[in-house]
Amino acid sequence: MNFLSDTTAPAHPKLIEAIAAANTGFEPSYGSDAISARVEARLRDIFECELKVLFAVSGTASNALALSVLCPPDGAILCHDEAHIHRDERGAPEFYTGGGKLIPLRGAHAKIELSELDRTLAEIPEGFVHASPVRVLSLSNLTESGTAYSAAEVSERTARLKGRPAFVHMDGARFANALVSLGCTPAELTWKAGVDVLCFGATKNGALGAEAVVLFPSVADRFESLQARQKRGGHMAPKMRFMAAQFEAWLADDLWLDLARTANAHAQALANGLAALPGTRILHPVDGNEVFAQLPDAVAARLRAAGAGFYQWPDGSARLVTSWCTRADEIETLLETAGQIAP
Ligand SMILES: Cc1ncc(COP(=O)(O)O)c(C=O)c1O
Repeated sequence: MNFLSDTTAPAHPKLIEAIAAANTGFEPSYGSDAISARVEARLRDIFECELKVLFAVSGTASNALALSVLCPPDGAILCHDEAHIHRDERGAPEFYTGGGKLIPLRGAHAKIELSELDRTLAEIPEGFVHASPVRVLSLSNLTESGTAYSAAEVSERTARLKGRPAFVHMDGARFANALVSLGCTPAELTWKAGVDVLCFGATKNGALGAEAVVLFPSVADRFESLQARQKRGGHMAPKMRFMAAQFEAWLADDLWLDLARTANAHAQALANGLAALPGTRILHPVDGNEVFAQLPDAVAARLRAAGAGFYQWPDGSARLVTSWCTRADEIETLLETAGQIAP
């Protein structure tokens, strides 16, 4: 009953096989290998545009590096108050941008409220010498509450930056989960909705460790700057072919979408079961593979005693995360255990 995080899940066997298959002969390093080129071509098909891609080892590294090519040291990055870049990256975005200021905004279910965005933009007019000018809007999809911004919701927010020399970053650590729940195309949810850079995560959805910073055409000319920052920051993996190999297998035959659908379906089953228990409340719409539940203390304690793993969120709720290899019987056992104690 491991619902701690999708990063506690193993890598999918097909990705491990792909790493083994890539482990033959010599290949150019630092992303100049043939597999990386094939993955870039595949991503161009998937996203329907002339993008550039750079692989990174962690979501934090890809977020920080991506933001560093969008935000100057004296610029501001607007994000949700719950955003991973704000709460969980130990100042990496500020460090890599050389001082970029994160401005956290509020909004229900970890989605930036439009009125908050409007108010903040009004407070920071372009050219006001005293304030850090807004240079980036960062949206997480899935959000940190497990909800998905629809393409229209992304567009509504990105449109607010019109007239400013500002860019849009999307933290897509769980982009696949958002995408399959919305049923739109990758292009519709990103560049067509005004996103300039996507940090496209595979690690939480079946990879051993592979993230991709995807630069859409509006900022593709920053690729060399991104590479230089990755190198200087000590994040450039020499044998990048092994990261590319994971992406290649993950994207083949829509495996990435199937794995996300599986994880999402498990989260739905879990949420439905928990919602039916007396005294339990599901706090946010379950759009992806995360369930946030307010559990009676006795239920939470009983589940932990029975060996269930989940995080207690700062607001006291339980965060339960499913993955591509969650088993239905784990969910059944958890619900049965919770049902025995529920008032
Ligand atoms: C929304 C979000 N973004 C980014 C990350 C990346 O984290 P890491 O640096 O651990 O790969 C995470 C991990 O939990 C996350 O939940």
